Amino acid sequence: METSVALDFLGDLRRTHMCGDLRASDAGQTVLLMGWAHRRRDHGSVIFVDMRDRTGHTQAIFHEDVDPAVHKRAEEVRAEYVIAVEGVVALRAAGTINPNMPTGEVEVVASKIWILNESRTPPFPMEENLDVSEDVRLKYRYVDLRRPQMQRNIILRSKISFAVRELMTHAGFLEIETPFMTRSTPEGARDYLVPSRVNPGTFYALPQSPQIFKQLLMISGFEKYFQIVRCFRDEDLRADRQPEFTQIDIEMSYPRQSDIFDTVEPLVKRICEVAGYDVPATFPRITYAQAMERYGIDKPDTRIPPMFPVGDLLTELANNDLPFVGIHIPGCGALSRKERDDFKAYGQERGLRVFDDPKRLERDYPEQMAKVRERCGAQEDSLLVLAAWAGEPKGHRPAETVYQACGQLRLFCASKFNDRHKLLDPKNFQFLWVVDFPMFEWNDEDNRWVAAHHPFTSVHDEDIDLLTADPAKCRAKSYDLVLNGVELGSGSIRIHRRDVQAKVFAAVGFSDDEAKRRFGYLLEALEFGAPPHGGIALGLDRLVMILAGETSIREVIPFPKTARGTDLMSDAPASVPDKALKELGIALRAPGK
Ligand code: AMO
Repeated sequence: METSVALDFLGDLRRTHMCGDLRASDAGQTVLLMGWAHRRRDHGSVIFVDMRDRTGHTQAIFHEDVDPAVHKRAEEVRAEYVIAVEGVVALRAAGTINPNMPTGEVEVVASKIWILNESRTPPFPMEENLDVSEDVRLKYRYVDLRRPQMQRNIILRSKISFAVRELMTHAGFLEIETPFMTRSTPEGARDYLVPSRVNPGTFYALPQSPQIFKQLLMISGFEKYFQIVRCFRDEDLRADRQPEFTQIDIEMSYPRQSDIFDTVEPLVKRICEVAGYDVPATFPRITYAQAMERYGIDKPDTRIPPMFPVGDLLTELANNDLPFVGIHIPGCGALSRKERDDFKAYGQERGLRVFDDPKRLERDYPEQMAKVRERCGAQEDSLLVLAAWAGEPKGHRPAETVYQACGQLRLFCASKFNDRHKLLDPKNFQFLWVVDFPMFEWNDEDNRWVAAHHPFTSVHDEDIDLLTADPAKCRAKSYDLVLNGVELGSGSIRIHRRDVQAKVFAAVGFSDDEAKRRFGYLLEALEFGAPPHGGIALGLDRLVMILAGETSIREVIPFPKTARGTDLMSDAPASVPDKALKELGIALRAPGK
């Protein structure tokens, strides 16, 4: 393909400064800059080229009367051409200073220009606020990444990774790699499989997390491990989920739960500092049961006030022993009939009986309602809704079912009226530990208990007998780190005893044979002096997303997949030639057939 302009070679050219470096104090220096032509303004005898690199912008100025040949060459420059410019730094004339640019007091009076490469007209401008579909951005991701927002996000991510390595290494943790080609494990259905050519008919699985390997590393005596590690999960995608994502993975020997928190809190504080935010040195802790009662969810957004019980005050309206709660959101102002109908319908769809009009309740139950108001501190401009369960108790933990529906209604109201109360300020970082999760969740599809976290999680010492007697009540030594309603991290104290591990496998319905087949190597390792151990994994993408003020992790991952799991740039996933399948001994058939 012919180029439309003659191109120069880089040769021995070396840049002396970055485009964001120059200040008034550099005036008089001869400099050589390299970068993209961000914008060119042609004023006839004077041409301005705004040059851009990773560090910022500098204006280069080409005067026809300084050197007509160089001026002529500058005329050929178009947006996103790659150029090198040599010239002298000069102070801008008073009226042309740009106070919005760090380099806005100076410009480079160019004496030479090299055009190192041309560019097609970019699919969108390299600007902050783009009005273009995400699909176009992802197709031309390498260009999209040049935009300031993406540069900031990816640079922030890099700085955070560095800070993590620095802090964890100083705290005595070793960064140790674990394999990507592994055996298909726990929730095997979500594994990405990799066929083995040399062992036809067999597959590796890409790890959903390094869980078993980090436990083995504790059995191997490394005591304190961490890794910034890619994980792979074939699950339905959402704004905060990608098929490949990155964890800050941590494991230690002989930990109490508080040792894990004492490791993570300074780490998270440091990460926030890198992003320019100061957060408290320790985070509040609540139990899973409290999280459910107050927020109806295991990842509470504590920027919004908690729900509160009203069943003891309005006994006439309560349904059996099921929870009856109040939802209180200050600063919502007067609500229209239509607005009330909206959230009422939302609650009803979730099985709730919604009392949307506190004034009416006040007429019928004045004294009780005065106590309700007092309990939550509701003001004139507060939204106050009461919600009870409308039907028969449902689920294995019926109270939880009610709390969950109420919690959803609470979040629905909070986000619907956020433009009034403004409680959901993305820069108000409310971290929270949720502890003592239940050990098991009921899985309707398989009609059995499954591990709520994973089957390597310890039960509370006093709950061991419940493993067989009453799994629903069995509490795990597990904990989540939550930030503004997002699950940032999850971990647990592990099972280090072979006999207890066997009991848990039995409780989740694995026969001895199946447990051995799937995790035989772990079970065997537990027989060789496994120390008590535990850890946690934080979702790096989610953390960077929130600190960067983004609402999707795609904005902080250089080359993410779409919500359909595809890469629009390379068109992955793609079919492979028959020859490759033959070599792997693989024949294709329609999914599910
Ligand atoms: P868990 O499965 O809870 O625990 O994952 C830990 C954290 O990883 C992040 N995360 C994700 N981020 C983006 N996309 C995804 N698809 C995705 N899935 C999870 C979340 C989550 O809190 N091995 C255990 C940890 C342990 O017990 O130490 C584990 O992987 O922020």
